[in-house]
Formats: sequence, C-alpha cells, structure tokens
Amino acid sequence: MSKKIASARISAESSSLLKALNDSLPFDKALYREDIEGSRAHAWMLMKQGIISPEDFEAIDRGLEQVLEEIENGTFGLDGGDEDIHMAVERRLTELVGDAGKRLHTARSRNDQVAVDFRLYVLRHDRQIAKLLRELIASLLRVAREHTETLLPGMTHLQHAQPTNLGYHLMAYASMFRRDVERFESSFERNNLSPLGCAALAGTPHPIDRRLTAERLGFREPTLNCLDTVSDRDFALEILFNIATMMMHISRLSEELILWSTSEFGFVRLSDKHATGSSIMPQKKNPDIPELLRGKTGRAYGNLVSLLTVMKGLPLAYNKDTQEDKEGVFDSVRTAELSLRVLREMIDEMTINEEAMEAACAKGHLTATDLADWLVKEAGLPFRDAYHIVGNVVNRAEELGKDISEMSAEELAQVDARIGEAACALLDNRRSMNARASEGGTATERTLEQIQRMEEWLQKP
Ligand code: ARG
Repeated sequence: MSKKIASARISAESSSLLKALNDSLPFDKALYREDIEGSRAHAWMLMKQGIISPEDFEAIDRGLEQVLEEIENGTFGLDGGDEDIHMAVERRLTELVGDAGKRLHTARSRNDQVAVDFRLYVLRHDRQIAKLLRELIASLLRVAREHTETLLPGMTHLQHAQPTNLGYHLMAYASMFRRDVERFESSFERNNLSPLGCAALAGTPHPIDRRLTAERLGFREPTLNCLDTVSDRDFALEILFNIATMMMHISRLSEELILWSTSEFGFVRLSDKHATGSSIMPQKKNPDIPELLRGKTGRAYGNLVSLLTVMKGLPLAYNKDTQEDKEGVFDSVRTAELSLRVLREMIDEMTINEEAMEAACAKGHLTATDLADWLVKEAGLPFRDAYHIVGNVVNRAEELGKDISEMSAEELAQVDARIGEAACALLDNRRSMNARASEGGTATERTLEQIQRMEEWLQKP
C-alpha cells in the first residue's frame, strides 16, 4: 500500500512518515456504511446503463454486502494499512469477488466518492440533530407550561430589572432552539443533492445516469456542476456553523443553570446525576455537567474556524487539504448529539425552587418602572419628573430596609402626595408581571399563547 505514495527515490523511513500524514483510514473508517451504500448504488446504475454486466453487478453487490457484514462483526478490522475507507472497501471486495470488484471504479473517482460519502453522513446528522433539538424543545415546553405563574426576576446586566415568570424565561431558550432546528432543516434541504458521477472533476465519457443514483440514495437530484461539487464542502461548514450556534445557546442556558444552582440564587437543584463532588471538600456538589456543556462550546467554534481556514484559498477543484474536513465534523456532531441528550435529561430531572424565585422578586425594586408609568398616565407628569420621584421612592425604601413592593400607601405618600392607594397596588410583582401583556410579553396569558404557538409548530411534521 505504501508503495503508492513512496517512490524509488524516497527512503523507507520517510515513506512511513508520509503514510502517517497521508492516510485517512484511521478516521474516515467512520464512513464505511455510506461508502458501501454509495458503491452499491453506483454498481447498480452501471448495470442499468449497460456499462457492466448483470453478473458483475450481482458479484459486486453480494460482495459489498459481505464487506459490510465483516466490518460490523469485526472480521474485517479496517486496520490493514489501507490509505482510506474507499481503498479498504475496494480491496476487500476484490479479494472476495475477483475481477468484478475491479470494475466497480468505472466512471467514478475517489473525489466524487468521498463527496457522496461525507455528504450522506452530514445530511443524516442534520436530521438527527434537528430531531434531538425538537425533543429538547418538548421538554422545555412541558416545564414552561407548569411555571407560567412562577415569578422570576427578569434581569438586564445580571441586575434585577422587571418581574417575569419562569415559563416566559424558558420560552426564550425554546425560541433559540427553534431557530436552530430551522437552520439544520434548511441546510438539509439545500444540500440534499448527489455528487455521484462527477468523477474526478469533469464528469465522465461513460453513459452514466446520475439521476438513477441520486434517487436511489435519497437525494433530491444530482448537483449542477461537477467542478464545484468535488471540492464543495459548504454542507460541512453549514453543519459546523449550525452546531456552533446551537452550542452557544446551550452554553448560555448552562451558564444560567450554574448560576441558579449556587447558594446565592438557589433557584434550581440539579439532580445528583448531573452534579459531582469535590475530592477534598466533602460538602461540595458541583454543576460539572452544565460546565462541560459550556466548555465544549469552545471546540465547536474551533472546528468551524478550522474548516473555514482549510477551504480558504483552495483552487478548483479537489485538493488533498480537503481531507482535513472530517475529524472536526465528526467531533462536532458527537459533541452536539451528546450535549443535547444530556441537557434534555438535566431539564427533565432538575428541581425548581419556586419559593426562592419568588422571594428574589422582593429584592431590587422590580416594579419601579410601573410606578413611573402610573405617574405619567394617571397623574399627568412628564416622564423625567416621574423618573425622579420614583428615584426618591426607591431611596426611601432603602432607608426603611424594604423593597418598594413592600411599602405601605402612607410611606409612599410621604415621598410624594400624588402617590396613593391606587399606585400602591401597582407595586405588586405578580400584577406587574401580568401587566406586560403586549404580544410576546411576560404576562401569564401571553406566555401561554407563546407555548401554544410553539407546540403547534412542534407538531407540524
Ligand atoms: N481520503 C481522501 C479524502 O478524504 C479521499 C479522496 C482522495 N482523492 C484523491 N484524489 N487523492 O479526501
């Protein structure tokens, strides 16, 4: 095998070094199923078009089926020193069926072969990740539905801002993950085109029919231009970008779960399954799982930037640089699918401390804006004046060691006589949460509407 890349003028030592650099079998063996599927479709098309005999097709097809079995049961180990998965499968096929095996590569090149294998792999995972995301969204919707009345301090700058509810907060994440689903699904649609039959770069003089193989492999149709196709890796870049963005969303949610499970917040308790102890501090329960999800986002970004950089400046068409496309994609796909499964389990099994969330709403004067709005609407004050009066109310509340939601009508009136009973009622956190009833707002009824609409979207096929 190493003869292929060595020559009479290269020493044995450097040839094994070259082989270590050049061979992709150690990682592209993950594509064995796609490789065999693509080869069987190709052989079938060659037979249909009269390019190989029915006898040769039968031999190839049975042979490839046996290679698949041998790989799956471990009798063909994919560690025989072949250069890549394409060479390994073809070698074993030829050992099994003789000359017929040597006819398989008619009207084909490894350039279209790797393009079809890798595309089939990526398309399969575009769908798999979208499915896992939909399952995660279903879990978020279930918890959100239970908590549309659970008060939660909404924050900006990580400072208490206005009262919201937990269901509303979770719907923000469900919205991010829905965009992710749409991205994976549209990448699938855009890239569902067959590279097979492009051969090395320019097509082939053999009378092939690319539509036959495209249809048999489940592609919408063949790609338009072979020169583009053999060097196009946009489908791989798209899954890497989609995963990087999805991991960013997962990381943001993880960060909140980490904060929420501190003793300062105490909003949630992760199940013991998703926390670990410290080797030295016996009291500790650490949120390692969301920390890992947050940390793994880094490698997803790295894989995207790596492939963008590999592709930059490549002249048409195939170049060996492209072989660097696979390991990052395999890593990102594995990371994404594992992360989604773990995150869903964590959401399903965490305990929510509603009292702590509601108690937190009694800090930070969350309803100050409601009072200013009232002074504008009911007392006819210019907003800037109202803003200053409320500032004085907040100062007074701090002197009293209270939140403004806890001040009595008399205490309020002492600051400004225009603030009476009616205004006092406004300062209630739950009333304030429900008052933000504009479309997309936090009011319980509006949150329920958002949940309902997302459920309808989720049920559509
Ligand atoms: N192992 C190669 C890859 O992953 C397969 C294509 C090789 N084609 C070639 N002309 N050397 O890209």
